[in-house]
Amino acid sequence: MALQVFTAVTGAGWESELVGALDRDDHGVTVVRRCVDVSELLAAAATGTGQAALLSAELRRLDGEAVARLHAAGVAVVGLVEPGDELAAQRLRQLGVAQVLPADADPEVIAAALRDAVAGAPDAGRDVADPRAALPVPAEPELPPAPRGGRGRVVAVWGPTGAPGRTTVAVGLADETARLGVDTLLVDADVYGGVVAQVLGLLDESPGLAGAARLAGTGTLDSAALARLAWSVHPGLRVLTGPARADRWPELRPSAVSVVLEEARRLADLTVVDCAFSVEDDEELSFDTAAPRRNGATLAVLEQADTVLCVSGADPVALQRCVRALDQLREVLPDVEPVLVVNQLRRGPVPGDPQEEVSAALDRFTGRRPHFFLPADRRATDAALAAGRTLAEVAPASPLRSGLRGLAAELAGVPAPAAGRRGVLRMRRAG
Ligand SMILES: Nc1ncnc2c1ncn2[C@@H]1O[C@H](COP(=O)(O)OP(=O)(O)OP(=O)(O)O)[C@@H](O)[C@H]1O
Ligand SMILES: [Mg+2]
Repeated sequence: MALQVFTAVTGAGWESELVGALDRDDHGVTVVRRCVDVSELLAAAATGTGQAALLSAELRRLDGEAVARLHAAGVAVVGLVEPGDELAAQRLRQLGVAQVLPADADPEVIAAALRDAVAGAPDAGRDVADPRAALPVPAEPELPPAPRGGRGRVVAVWGPTGAPGRTTVAVGLADETARLGVDTLLVDADVYGGVVAQVLGLLDESPGLAGAARLAGTGTLDSAALARLAWSVHPGLRVLTGPARADRWPELRPSAVSVVLEEARRLADLTVVDCAFSVEDDEELSFDTAAPRRNGATLAVLEQADTVLCVSGADPVALQRCVRALDQLREVLPDVEPVLVVNQLRRGPVPGDPQEEVSAALDRFTGRRPHFFLPADRRATDAALAAGRTLAEVAPASPLRSGLRGLAAELAGVPAPAAGRRGVLRMRRAG
């Protein structure tokens, strides 16, 4: 059966001729709808009557969101650009169009590209509701994993609700890797309200991640633009602030956040992302399958990260939340293998040796042992919060700073500096 194709190549002189040639000759392609704009194309895609869309770079209002919605509707996308317009081709690729051809390509070549795109279409639904099935328990993760293709690595700092210390760990980790000589970018992607700017004493009115996502959505984000949007906190550490107001989460479209992370890999050796806690896919209950998903940005980060740290508190309530959160993560992203970091370890909330007890409890209920322990150190965190500075600046000899430095050294693949060793050896690894 011929491939059913939508076209949206308005604004280009070659449209009629191309559509005619595709339809007329026996290329195995039938143009079922010639759309005049993005809205019509999306509406056509939602009818389920086509498997692919052929669109031109000039199409007005074409952005990453539209391409993601086409993919979510099961429509593969092929882009056409004016011959030689490499900028337009680059822009289309950044929007998520994998196959881009010059408009004067032979109709047979275009038809083949459409067939290839359908054969290799990405999984539907990263931006919109997409139910996922639970899979078996994953293997114990290694730290640090191999970098992807020699580009900068992405570490997502995630964890359950209840403020276990994700932001404290993300900020401390990024600051310490930078101090160890690793060019680092800290990204605040907490869709429930980012606080990294405040924690570091920065102006939170800066466009930050939302600004970068906007540029990504229009296909105009590059490393230079990303660098301009980031604060330079000290040599080696850049910060992309997050949405200060929780109600601004729709600015962080998952497809755009993914593009920002790709660009971040080019800009920095290591990108540390402070994530929100929730990975719920509750929008999948909605009948509107194109509804934006609040937690989509978190899922996109967790899916793309080379390493996902799951930060848990060390008391019984926090541990219970951690067990549930790991269950939920496995349901929505079965391939993600988080590395457990237990924070705020102290005597008191659990009987006996806290490190042993916490380790045994997590092992029993999740099949995973914590990889790292960080001590409760209120004196140090209060000093940092009061000054809007990092632990290295205000409490350089504190046990928490030592622990974070050890974790940073391990993630960066460098030896832990001598000053941090005692704290690290004392607190790390349960077994
Ligand atoms: N190891 C620690 N010792 C003492 N206090 C800590 C430690 N880690 C974090 N805190 C404190 O706990 C509080 C919550 O930490 P943080 O903001 O990092 O958590 P979170 O998981 O990012 O929370 P949220 O859900 O608000 O994003 C803060 O006041 C922080 O200073
Ligand atoms: Mg936080």
